[in-house]
Amino acid sequence: MFDRFNRRINYLRVSVTDRCNLRCTYCMPEEGVPLLHHDDILRLEEIVEVIKVAVGMGISKIRITGGEPLVRKGIVGLVKDIAGIPGISDFGLTSNGILLEEFAGQLSDAGLHRINISLDTLDPEKFVLLTRGGDVGRVIRGIHAAKAAGLSPIKINCVVRNSSGEPDAIAVKKFCAEHGLEVRFIHEMNLADGRFTIVENGHGGDCIHCNRLRLTSNGIIRPCLFNDAGFSIRDLGIRQALEMAVGMKPEKGTLSNSHFNSIGG
Ligand code: 5AD
Ligand code: SF4
Repeated sequence: MFDRFNRRINYLRVSVTDRCNLRCTYCMPEEGVPLLHHDDILRLEEIVEVIKVAVGMGISKIRITGGEPLVRKGIVGLVKDIAGIPGISDFGLTSNGILLEEFAGQLSDAGLHRINISLDTLDPEKFVLLTRGGDVGRVIRGIHAAKAAGLSPIKINCVVRNSSGEPDAIAVKKFCAEHGLEVRFIHEMNLADGRFTIVENGHGGDCIHCNRLRLTSNGIIRPCLFNDAGFSIRDLGIRQALEMAVGMKPEKGTLSNSHFNSIGG
């Protein structure tokens, strides 16, 4: 699929839940956010169907996101079903790592290729504050489990306040170098004003080369994280929702009311 600006659209990010087992300060208010109603969340079979249709239309890269995707019941079976769709050359998942020690082997066996894990600090106390209660030890064990399971490459997403020269970022970089992990630094966005920047060593925020669409956990195809357009697969049908999203993909992102927890970054 090509959009109006002749960008080849071959990447679909799929949010499988709006729920998360952490409450990162830059992502969510302390009390959490209103959760979607159960009936509005796509069933696993609907997600598989959207991906099948999308792959038939030229999507070849799939990334599972959340919320935290590993809190979705049936995630391993979903990964297996997606991995069985012919035509997917790149199949990844983005996780906060908390449940990865338990899931890494199963995900790899189910056919997942690779994983991105969020890690902003190695300091246990700072991690507790940043995530409002998370245990960084679990994330570290999750990273080791992902390596042992053969998921490759493993990329670490590190959100920085100002620059990758901050002490926490430097420590994360060193940890990654020691363990053969790729690290990407993402500038913290202020969700109140929606400003965004290019990801260092990654692809987000690079509008000219943007190749992606998003599927939200309630079945909306979104052409851009920084644009409010969205097309419901239940209302329009999968093919038409995808076609309209590609047709409406903006040249570049502008302000948006999106929240990371519901659209998956
Ligand atoms: N700014 C930048 N990135 C964010 N993420 C969530 N909230 C923000 C924010 N305010 C991204 C981070 C995190 C992933 C789950 O979502 O990359 O690792
Ligand atoms: Fe959860 Fe990720 Fe948001 Fe943190 S940034 S609360 S891990 S969705």
